[in-house]
Amino acid sequence: MPQNDPTIQCSFCKRKIVPKSQYDVPIYDPRANFAICANCIKDIYHVLEEHQQGEAVAQTEETANAIAEEISRIKPHMVKEYLDQYIINQDRAKKILSVAIYNHYKRMQYGFQHKDESEAIEEIDKSNVIIMGPSGCGKTALLSHLATMLDIPFAVTDASSLTEAGFVGSDVEVAVRNLYYAADKDLARCEHGIIYLDEFDKIARKSGENNTITADPGHEGVQQALLKMLEGNVVEFTARGQRKHPEAPTIKVDTKNILFIVGGAFVGIEKIIAKRLKKTDSNIGFGAKIEGQEEKPKFDELIHQVTPEDLMKFGIIPEIIGRLPVICTLESLDEDALLRILTEPKNAPVKQYQKLMEMDNVELVFEDAALRAIAKKAIERKTGARSLKGIIEDTMLDIMFDIPRSDKHRKVTITEACINDQAQPLIEEL
Ligand SMILES: Nc1ncnc2c1ncn2[C@@H]1O[C@H](COP(=O)(O)OP(=O)(O)OP(=O)(O)O)[C@@H](O)[C@H]1O
Ligand SMILES: [Mg+2]
Repeated sequence: MPQNDPTIQCSFCKRKIVPKSQYDVPIYDPRANFAICANCIKDIYHVLEEHQQGEAVAQTEETANAIAEEISRIKPHMVKEYLDQYIINQDRAKKILSVAIYNHYKRMQYGFQHKDESEAIEEIDKSNVIIMGPSGCGKTALLSHLATMLDIPFAVTDASSLTEAGFVGSDVEVAVRNLYYAADKDLARCEHGIIYLDEFDKIARKSGENNTITADPGHEGVQQALLKMLEGNVVEFTARGQRKHPEAPTIKVDTKNILFIVGGAFVGIEKIIAKRLKKTDSNIGFGAKIEGQEEKPKFDELIHQVTPEDLMKFGIIPEIIGRLPVICTLESLDEDALLRILTEPKNAPVKQYQKLMEMDNVELVFEDAALRAIAKKAIERKTGARSLKGIIEDTMLDIMFDIPRSDKHRKVTITEACINDQAQPLIEEL
């Protein structure tokens, strides 16, 4: 390269660069005729960071010790007790998940304890879980509380954002990548983590019975790609923020020991179940009951009888269903359950608003009738516990706006009329 030539060639990617500032070609030695462009430095940095760091921390020993220590802390009854603090009802689901988590740990421990044995020992199969239940009944909440409780990496990925490679959206590898970052880039921990795929029903084949549209190659492709992950494969992905190109450095994660939990509302699956039951057992006579009135209990009765065939009809490919041996169903929440959700959990909405008001020197009181009115309203909205907070927020808006005008010690009472007739809450000076 002649000294006066303004273009410099990167010795790695051979691209010609016209330096506008010294930062365009951070390393340049004209005497050695050597240069590296900023892009190549970034790539090298990623290779070093991802591979070396990943491998250095991948100390299986450490992971094995951590598991042995934690296994005494996550016995099923302990996990359930923890979840009980936040989630009302759903006892069966809590039990199933607690057992699934405990078994996952035991399976890991077994693997570590027998890893040096020469003859091929029997492995304990993992039991991936599928959870289903109506909207707003606590699926996502259950899993996010589990995630905060456990020490092993746990990543939640929204399956509805996933697309087949080549389509606009995220590739399925994103789920594993999220786990890798949840494990602080520790490969050994990542390979024993838990992936929760939320909104899993959204990737059902549209030609399933729940839908009328026919051709739907995209979703089936996502399922096929997920299947590879569920089966236990080496998944390859680029670091966060890295462009995907053939030379981009990749991180490889073996999903063999990752526990998968998938969940969704599976809207309409109760109809598929009812149809099947009607065919096999004419005595049950669903549908013969008064329509509308018994809608809720009917849904719960049906959902607990879901079988793999129903899921297949819904549009999940049989190979995936085969990889999800544990089916966990959640029930819909009735008025009493909603009433408890308002006040009982550690993070109950009423407690949260009371804390907020306390900071303005205000005692916030909800009359019992007001709480019941909120629960009743939420039932009408048919979105489970999801609407509770919105209903309170509506009522509280004016109060939250006006209260900070003064520092006086006051008591605010929310009455039934506040909820039903938009009446103003009672304010007393104390
Ligand atoms: N059984 C429950 N106990 C306590 N809180 C609950 C319960 N069910 C739902 N909630 C609360 O209601 C809100 C919505 O619940 P969540 O997001 O878990 O619903 P979901 O079952 O995932 O619904 P969707 O299928 O629509 O995603 C959350 O704030 C959660 O804390
Ligand atoms: Mg959810």
